[in-house]
Amino acid sequence: MKTTLVIFGITGHLAQSKLLPALANIIEAGDIGELSIIGVSRREVEQFTVLGEHHHQLNGTTSMLQMDVENPDDYAKLKDYISAGEGEQVLFYLSVPPEYAANIIEHLGQSGLNRAPNKLLLEKPFGTDLASAQEMIDHTAKHFDESQVYRIDHYLAKEMAQNVVMFRATNAIFRHLWSNKYIESVDVMALESVDIEGRVDFYEQTGALRDIVQGHLMQLLALTLSDIPDELNWDTLPALRLMALESVQPADPRYCKHAQYQGYRDEVNNPDSNVETFVSLKLESTDENWSGVPLTLTTGKALDAKKTEVRVNFKRSHDAHSNSLVFKIQPDEGISIDLLVKKAGYEREVQSQKLSYMYPSDTRLPEAYEQVLVDAITGRKSLFASSGEVLRSWEILAPVQRAWQSQDGIQTYKKGSDYHDIINS
Ligand code: BG6
Repeated sequence: MKTTLVIFGITGHLAQSKLLPALANIIEAGDIGELSIIGVSRREVEQFTVLGEHHHQLNGTTSMLQMDVENPDDYAKLKDYISAGEGEQVLFYLSVPPEYAANIIEHLGQSGLNRAPNKLLLEKPFGTDLASAQEMIDHTAKHFDESQVYRIDHYLAKEMAQNVVMFRATNAIFRHLWSNKYIESVDVMALESVDIEGRVDFYEQTGALRDIVQGHLMQLLALTLSDIPDELNWDTLPALRLMALESVQPADPRYCKHAQYQGYRDEVNNPDSNVETFVSLKLESTDENWSGVPLTLTTGKALDAKKTEVRVNFKRSHDAHSNSLVFKIQPDEGISIDLLVKKAGYEREVQSQKLSYMYPSDTRLPEAYEQVLVDAITGRKSLFASSGEVLRSWEILAPVQRAWQSQDGIQTYKKGSDYHDIINS
C-alpha cells in the first residue's frame, strides 16, 4: 500500500534529531513499499536546509508544505496537496508542542482527513495528569477510531525492550523463575548524563515524572511484569501490559523521591521553579505473582552516566549475594547475569562474575524511531500505548503528583551525581 507520511513540525527538535535520521535509514533499507513524506511547517523553509545531512536519501521522497496548523482553511490546502488515491494511507505524525495537538486533530477530523485507512501518530506527553489525559483521549476519539491512533512511546520500540518480551517468552529457565517465589525486587532505571539540553519551555511544563516515568519507565515495568503466555501473540501485548499495570498500586508519596540539579533554576530563568529533574519511586503490585516484590523506577538528568536498564534481582539463597538478570536497554545493548564462581587457584575462594551477551559491535541495531515508523506504516500496534495504559499510568502517579504540587521547595543535587547518593541523601 502506498503511504504518505505528513509530519507536522518538521523543523522541530524531534523531527530533526530522530525522525529524519530514522526515515533516511528506512528508505535506504527499502522494504516498506512506496513512501512519500510531506513536511509541514509554519514558516517558509528551504527543503535542502530542513533535510540537512539526510538530503541525499530523502530528497526525492520529500516535499514541504507551508501551512498554519491553527487555521482550519489550511486543511483544505493540505487535503488537495495530499491527493491520496483509493487504498492509499496517510499517516499524520504530530511532532508538535502538546498545546497544538487538540486543534490539529479537530481540523483533521473536520476536513475528512481522519478516514480509515489514515492513521494518527501521537507523541507524548499524553496529557499532564489523569484528567487532562482523559480529556485528550475523549477528544481524539471524537475524530479517530482507537484502531487508527498510534501513541508513541519510543522506549517500547527499543531493541532491548522488545527483548525483555522475547527473552522471557523463549527461555524456559527464566519462565519458571518469573514470580515473587524467586524474584526479590525489580529496578527499572533510565539515567541520563545530559541535562535538559536547552529545552526550557518543554521541561518547565513537563519535569522528569511526566517526561520519562509516566511513559517510558512504566512501559518497561509493564513489559517486565506482564504475564506472557506460552504461545505469545505480539498483538496481545498492549492488553498484557495493561493487565500488569492494573495490578500496580497508586504510588505512595512517602516512598518516592524527587530532586532538581543545581543550576537548573538559572538555566530556565525561574528562581522559584520546583520542577524535578530526578525521580525515584517505589511501587508494588497486588498481582499474586508479584505481591511483596519492591518495584523501583528511577530516572534523572545530569547524572554521572547514561544507563537504561531493567534489573531483576533474584532471592538470595545465602547471606550476601543476589543473582541479578539485567536487560541493558542502552548503551552496550545486551543481557547479563551476575554469578558467583570459584576464583582460579588453590584456595576455595569465590568471586563475582558476569555472564553476558552483548550484540556484536558490527550489528546494526535499528533506532527505536525506525521501528516506530515501520510498525505504524505496516499497522502493527504491539509497541504503541493504548488509551487504557496511558490512563492507568496516570492513576498510579496521581498521589505523588498531588503531594509534590503542594510541597514547598525541592531537594537539589550536584550535576554529575551518582543516583544512589541522591536517593540516600
Ligand atoms: C525523551 C525525553 O522522550 O527521551 C528526553 O523527552 C530524553 O528528555 C529522551 O532525553 C531519552 O531518550 P533516549 O532514547 O535517548 O534514551
